[in-house]
Amino acid sequence: MALIQKNNKTSSVQDRKGVDDLKNFINDHIYKSSQSAMPLRWNEKTGTKRTILLIDDDKDMVEIGRKIIVSAGYHFISTSNGNDGLDYILKYRPDLILLDYVMPGITGAEVFERLVTSQRYKHLSQTPVIMLTAKSEYDINRATLFEMGLAAFLVKPFGHRELINVIDNVFILHQVKQKNKELEQKIRRSEYKYQDLIENANDLIYTLNLKGDFIFINRRLSTLTGFPREEWVGRSFFDLVAPEDRIEARNNFSLTLRGKARMFEIRLICQTGAPLYLSMNINPIYEKGEVVGAIGISRDITQRKKLEQEITELKNFNESIIQSMGSGLITLNLNNKITSFNISAEEILGYKQNDVVGKHIYDIFPKQECERLISINTTNYKYPLNREMELTRKDDSKVFIGYSVSSRIDNHNLKVGTIISFRDISQIKQMQMEVVRMDRLASMGVLASGIAHEVRNPLAGIKTMAQTLEEELEPADDRREYLTRIISQVNRLDELLKSLFSFAKPQQPKRKYQRLEDIIREVEVLFDDRLTKKNIQYLKNIQKNLPQIFVDFHQIQQVFINLFLNSLEAMPKGGVLELLAKPVQTIIYPRDRRKKAFVSENRESLYVEVSVHDSGVGINPEDKKVIFDPFFTTKPQGTGLGLSIVYRIIEEHHGEIVFDSETGKGTTFTLLLPTED
Ligand SMILES: Nc1ncnc2c1ncn2[C@@H]1O[C@H](COP(=O)(O)OP(=O)(O)OP(=O)(O)O)[C@@H](O)[C@H]1O
Ligand SMILES: [Mg+2]
Repeated sequence: MALIQKNNKTSSVQDRKGVDDLKNFINDHIYKSSQSAMPLRWNEKTGTKRTILLIDDDKDMVEIGRKIIVSAGYHFISTSNGNDGLDYILKYRPDLILLDYVMPGITGAEVFERLVTSQRYKHLSQTPVIMLTAKSEYDINRATLFEMGLAAFLVKPFGHRELINVIDNVFILHQVKQKNKELEQKIRRSEYKYQDLIENANDLIYTLNLKGDFIFINRRLSTLTGFPREEWVGRSFFDLVAPEDRIEARNNFSLTLRGKARMFEIRLICQTGAPLYLSMNINPIYEKGEVVGAIGISRDITQRKKLEQEITELKNFNESIIQSMGSGLITLNLNNKITSFNISAEEILGYKQNDVVGKHIYDIFPKQECERLISINTTNYKYPLNREMELTRKDDSKVFIGYSVSSRIDNHNLKVGTIISFRDISQIKQMQMEVVRMDRLASMGVLASGIAHEVRNPLAGIKTMAQTLEEELEPADDRREYLTRIISQVNRLDELLKSLFSFAKPQQPKRKYQRLEDIIREVEVLFDDRLTKKNIQYLKNIQKNLPQIFVDFHQIQQVFINLFLNSLEAMPKGGVLELLAKPVQTIIYPRDRRKKAFVSENRESLYVEVSVHDSGVGINPEDKKVIFDPFFTTKPQGTGLGLSIVYRIIEEHHGEIVFDSETGKGTTFTLLLPTED
């Protein structure tokens, strides 16, 4: 039992193993030997009988001893004094020594003492010794001798069975002791091994008490954090945790104390200040069914975290590129389900990323369009293909896109999906159409001016003849009326030809500093008569000290003539025509073909703002987009060139023209005319 008790100091697994070993041993050697004593008499190492040395000066005792011992099956040797005994011990290496306590010369006690203490006998010091004493020798300090390792005392006189029993028992005990020693050594060795493993483990291994203070920490802590571990034994584990992770660490720790093993990730504070990422694994430690602390194994995952961070950053970087791309980008997986949809795609197509990601492309666009869009998918085309098509937007309107489709390839060069990148080319398409139209108009213009030129000469002839004829007729002649009509029709034709000229062959503006009043005055002279005739009230408000404008006098005059004409024509039953002018400081943003303003140079300039307002019929809302288009007219006699000429002249002056109109109420055209180059 004492042996087992001693083993209890080691870990429990070892403990059990030790006990089992001992049981087996007792079973094999002791239990069996009681049935047959033979194994006890036999020295397994030498393969001979066990030798028993008796050191005693009493000759009778020696003789009796020899008889008993030999007959019990042991080998027997003897000597009569202590000094010889010690020599015998060295020479014969007996398995057991019977030592008489009282002898002449050195006593048995002295022999024993030398045997166990002297360096000379060190290798034999474990030999079991039985001390033979007489009944009268009470003063012997038995306890000291036992402490020194004496196996037994045998009091003389003793019976023959008693001697053999004692000898057998001492052998058994000795073997048990020996075995126990071996086991102890074994356990110690494995203990060292485990300790070594724990100490030098690549992971941080530690135990914590209920408060979370370190009880044990392995060496790794110092290497990882740079703090000496001695500093941390007894201190709170949470002080080592980065402040932002402490709550999480505490929560997990308290769960562990409630019996739950926890795995989580936190950061520790390092001596250098750099964060140390750990993957934590903490388990409760139980004692008698109650949690008394926690054992933790933590692994340094800083490198992994760094990689993760780099990957996330890379992902974000890619994502931001994809999202901020001017082109729309749609990616599909092999099943043609949408896996990403960037901001430009949202803008061009009107769908939101969340509406479409995860959906099948056929659920988003009409079948035919899908087939055109992803035809590459079926024909394993390796290179991106640039094409154009019309795609249906969310609101069912169409958008012209120029697109390229390519395969998404993974690391192993396998196709994992499709990438569609596209641009809204509606504007380009419209511009292309416009160019075609302008081209057509230009050739029409050339044709028209050619004809006009040819027509104007005979027309001038007709007019001169008619005027001559008119002069020759009597003032009261009825036929004068015909001539007046001829002349006015010729004049109308001439006006039309002039418009055609200025449309087909626009002149470069010859810009000079002009006073707006001078230009307007000449226009007013032209219109004076007609205004009165048509019962139109003319109002004018030109601010005093208006800055001069930097314009081509005749072209701007043409602008006002065209605007006044339109206003007059919009007020067949009379009304009000109003002209206002004032200086303004502003920026004119250039506009594209869709009349969308875009910022170029953020510089304010001084302009003269002139507005021409009439109380006429107004412009139909659906016509508002096209009134500046050449040849757009709502009038049976109109050419539709008036406003297109106005527009072009203002553009060439780097000015601006806008309008506001309400059917039935009237129209206002507002111009910005530059005051400098
Ligand atoms: N002040 C206005 N009030 C109402 N409608 C207008 C006004 N100005 C222009 N419009 C509309 O814009 C159209 C185009 O005008 P534009 O001056 O270019 O051609 P037009 O007047 O029809 O023909 P032209 O000027 O060649 O005789 C007009 O037909 C008319 O429908
Ligand atoms: Mg007009």
